[in-house]
Amino acid sequence: MCLVQKYNVPGPRYTSYPTVPYWNNDTFSLIKWKKSIKKNFEESNDSEGISLYIHLPFCEYMCTFCGCNKRITKRHDLELPYIRAVLKEWQLYCDLFEGRPNIKELHLGGGTPTFFSPKNLEFLINGILRKGNIAKDHEFSFEGHPNNTTEEHLKALYDLGFRRVSFGVQDYNPTVQKAINRVQSFENVKYVTDTARAIGYTSVGHDLIFGLPFQNLDHIEETIEKTMLLKPDRIAFYSYAHVPWIKGNGQRGFSESDLPKAPLKRAMYQKGKEVFEKNGYVEIGMDHFAASSDALCEASKKGKLHRNFMGYSSSKTQLMVGLGVSSISDSWYGFAQNVKGIEEYQSLLENNIIPVYRGHILNDEDLIIRKHILNLMCNFSTSWNTTTEKFSELPDVLIQLKEMEADDLLIIESDTIQITEKGKPFVRNICMAFDLLLKRKKPETQLFSMTV
Ligand SMILES: C[S@@+](CC[C@H](N)C(=O)[O-])C[C@H]1O[C@@H](n2cnc3c(N)ncnc32)[C@H](O)[C@@H]1O
Ligand code: SF4
Repeated sequence: MCLVQKYNVPGPRYTSYPTVPYWNNDTFSLIKWKKSIKKNFEESNDSEGISLYIHLPFCEYMCTFCGCNKRITKRHDLELPYIRAVLKEWQLYCDLFEGRPNIKELHLGGGTPTFFSPKNLEFLINGILRKGNIAKDHEFSFEGHPNNTTEEHLKALYDLGFRRVSFGVQDYNPTVQKAINRVQSFENVKYVTDTARAIGYTSVGHDLIFGLPFQNLDHIEETIEKTMLLKPDRIAFYSYAHVPWIKGNGQRGFSESDLPKAPLKRAMYQKGKEVFEKNGYVEIGMDHFAASSDALCEASKKGKLHRNFMGYSSSKTQLMVGLGVSSISDSWYGFAQNVKGIEEYQSLLENNIIPVYRGHILNDEDLIIRKHILNLMCNFSTSWNTTTEKFSELPDVLIQLKEMEADDLLIIESDTIQITEKGKPFVRNICMAFDLLLKRKKPETQLFSMTV
């Protein structure tokens, strides 16, 4: 059996460990969460600062591939009440902090942040920054939709300290664009990319996806060729995550048989990797390529890459507060997720309640495994030479890793594993060998997208 077939199984993307379906919600409470936030704020605010993620959930049109939490609407009168709720949530967190937060990272995701008017985004960001200090070497970034990002958006956010933007491109082929209900021209992408650069943004990223309905190798080549004309500083090259059981109608705009099969999907990834590397990009962790001048590449070289719910980042903060519907916060010792419904979110905040509805407090074993999985996802290696890195089920994990070593996916040394070039596309499978919770209780239904 070929490796793609052998290792193409449902598996997490490890933006957290434990992964969300394995959180122990029964032992989680808002009181414990607040305690965990306070503890971590004291530990991390002065040294590294904190990160903020703000989820802005509105989009005007539904892309049928989309796995994000969003509300499709053309009602822009929803912007201000939503922003007021986010600012209230931020106030409730600031009330827990002993002192003013030093904001090191701030990311606007969605949904579509550029659905909001520049004026309303200014109101939001000013309201956030008013309660904190901007940390030295801060990194403020946002996700923009090429069809509705204007020069005014780019200027307004630049003036507030944003220097990094990523644009959703996906694929340039008209057949694929029609199938995913996302018709957008190269000219729009070029316009927003050039405008961002002219204003002074130092990192402009493009998101591409392989494995979309009707996509073939020619489409991938065409998309990458166009992408190379614009030379983004970062490229997210995502494997299409087909999870229709979670997202309902959004992903049912095409049928299973329209999707490329695993071997073709892997060939698409290989094609992308080959062309990106030929053009000087470096593969960073999973799904990402960065120009050698980009901060992500620098961080990767220095072993300073970090991964959280926002994806990869060049700076590590232990505390990440997620504001807005469905956002996940991470206090290192615990995770908490906000409610997903906009009305419920706003109503809880009107009543001064932090709107989390589930979470997990990490135990000692979780913390050890979390570290190994982060190491693998960020550095393609991990080691267990100190007692704080060892765990009782390590011998069983090693048996599984030996089989992967026989497939040339990794090299095992006395107390270290190093993922090989051939093993990099299988990093999710390698992490799964360490995922004790997944091994102890296999899911009864499919919870995760396929690893290829
Ligand atoms: C919130 S969107 C980016 C901003 C804006 N909404 C847009 O679409 O341009 C985040 C990115 O997630 C990726 N994405 C969304 N659903 C996905 C899926 N099912 N599989 C893989 N990537 C996905 C897309 O590349 C998308 O650009
Ligand atoms: S891909 Fe972006 S614009 Fe499309 S539905 Fe998802 S969040 Fe909205």
